[in-house]
Amino acid sequence: MDVSRTQVGIVGAGPAGLMLGHLLHRHGIDSVILENRSRDYVIERVRAGVLEQGTVDLMRDVGLGGRLEREGLRHDGIHLAFEGVRYRIDMAALTGGRAITIYGQSEVVKDLIAARTETARPLHFNVEHLRVDEVTSSQPVIHYRHDGEQHQLQCDFIAGCDGFHGICRPSIPAAHLTIYERVYPFAWLGILARAAPTSRELVYSLHDRGFALFSMRSDEVTRLYLQCSPDEDLSAWPDHRVWQELAVRLSTSDGWRPAEGAITQKSVTGMRSFVADPMRYGRLYLAGDAAHIVPPTGAKGLNLAIADVLRLSRAFAAFYGSRDSGLLDLYSEVSVKRAWRAQRFSWWMTSMLHRSDSANLFDYRRQIAELDYLVSSEAAMTSLAENYVG
Ligand code: APR
Ligand code: PHB
Repeated sequence: MDVSRTQVGIVGAGPAGLMLGHLLHRHGIDSVILENRSRDYVIERVRAGVLEQGTVDLMRDVGLGGRLEREGLRHDGIHLAFEGVRYRIDMAALTGGRAITIYGQSEVVKDLIAARTETARPLHFNVEHLRVDEVTSSQPVIHYRHDGEQHQLQCDFIAGCDGFHGICRPSIPAAHLTIYERVYPFAWLGILARAAPTSRELVYSLHDRGFALFSMRSDEVTRLYLQCSPDEDLSAWPDHRVWQELAVRLSTSDGWRPAEGAITQKSVTGMRSFVADPMRYGRLYLAGDAAHIVPPTGAKGLNLAIADVLRLSRAFAAFYGSRDSGLLDLYSEVSVKRAWRAQRFSWWMTSMLHRSDSANLFDYRRQIAELDYLVSSEAAMTSLAENYVG
């Protein structure tokens, strides 16, 4: 058996784990990142693609701004569509110049893996049977198998960045954790299509047949979503039906509609709101999807994960720099509070824009009235813009 040690053992090479490793490296703190999937799987996984201003600023500040600057699409506004009309919300004008940038999560992950590789610090894919142990002691341990060999990694701290289905959160005794959860009775059917976007900015649409979202990845690739049921059978959705339904739910009376093209990816994603509190147990710290899930309507998931690890990296830097554990002690409280702010916004966007089977026509008219108020009140638009750009 191989025995080694590091300062921070990081479980998971999603955006949270990789960014944490990068931030720690910049503070001169040693880490080992352990991921159970392959490099290709981690890179190719299709996820969200909206970066808040703070996430873009951080990427730039830590030397990862190059490709983002060239290939990211800066959006100053978004559109809300209902009853056949599109309304633009000028987020930059309402927030003193803040904006969002469209840059796929897989691009963020590629940039982070390249940066990690350059530092020559350890990042291991395809690890097996990973478990964390002795997290309430001063020397927690990660056990895992890699390349047929058993490893024991002794750490000062462990960062659980292993997503919603990871093992770090479940390794915390249930009595120490409160779970808050809501599972929505609908899901999103998402596609990537080789089609030039017909709107420069995102369009969130409420239609009486359900929600639809127009987004993009580049000048050649459109990303689109349709509200569907959580157990939707993809085989019932041949491409022509997807396009037909998207056209019905997104087209506006000014003649706007998405352009069609070859569909290169199609999948169904369930929707939930989830918070685990606290985000710390002994020397195990949770970050990102391991601790909280938001429904994708507010585009907060990735940004929340990045905010967690920025906070955690500063706390580790204070600990190693001056043996001050004050920020580590505050990490969970501050992060949970921030997660709830994102939960509130994501829940609100989701309930305003989706149709629920249990709702009736009253609820639908109320949703339309809410949207109507939103697009006609500067105060309401400012509130949305502030939350959306982060
Ligand atoms: N051992 C090692 N790695 C694991 C294990 C395990 N037992 N379980 C899960 N992982 C890995 C996953 O394969 C994944 O690569 O942990 C990583 C977690 O990454 P993400 O799920 O992307 O979570 P996070 O880094 O917190 O990023 C949050 O992902 O779901 C989106 O909307 C969300 O954009 C947000 C982002
Ligand atoms: C996306 O482009 O994938 C996307 C955009 C906005 C959202 C969710 C996902 O709210």
